[in-house]
Amino acid sequence: MMKHFALAAVLTAGSSAAWAADNCKLEVGANDQMQYDKKEATVSAGCKEITITLKGTGKLDKTAMGHNLIVALEKDKNTIVAEGAGAGPAAGFVKAGSPLIVAATKLIGGGETDTIKFPGSKLKAGEAYSFFCTFPGHFALMNGKLTVTK
Ligand code: CO
Repeated sequence: MMKHFALAAVLTAGSSAAWAADNCKLEVGANDQMQYDKKEATVSAGCKEITITLKGTGKLDKTAMGHNLIVALEKDKNTIVAEGAGAGPAAGFVKAGSPLIVAATKLIGGGETDTIKFPGSKLKAGEAYSFFCTFPGHFALMNGKLTVTK
């Protein structure tokens, strides 16, 4: 009985420390099948800095199978995708300076990587956020739920 209790205490302490660290860093892969390797993720608004890395795990060039990762409120997703289509490929399908976008990676192809950093204070705990790709035709498959904790 004592042994079990001690083990549980160690596991609990270990996992909460891991959570605190994990929630400030997120790595997402994007492949040639128009998919992210995550459908949901959690970050913390309490992070001084949130780091998101997008990795192109496929082989195709960004002109054919480009991917980016936009962080925004779920309710703004459709507007941002439409604005991105209007901005076109030279702009990486992101409207520059859009106030609806919390953070955005650049458009990458297979074998490329982009990392973005932004303060956790740009997010509000409990609001419904999403991460998605604005390459034309991609966002229906390439989107995930972003949970924001305190
Ligand atoms: Co994409």
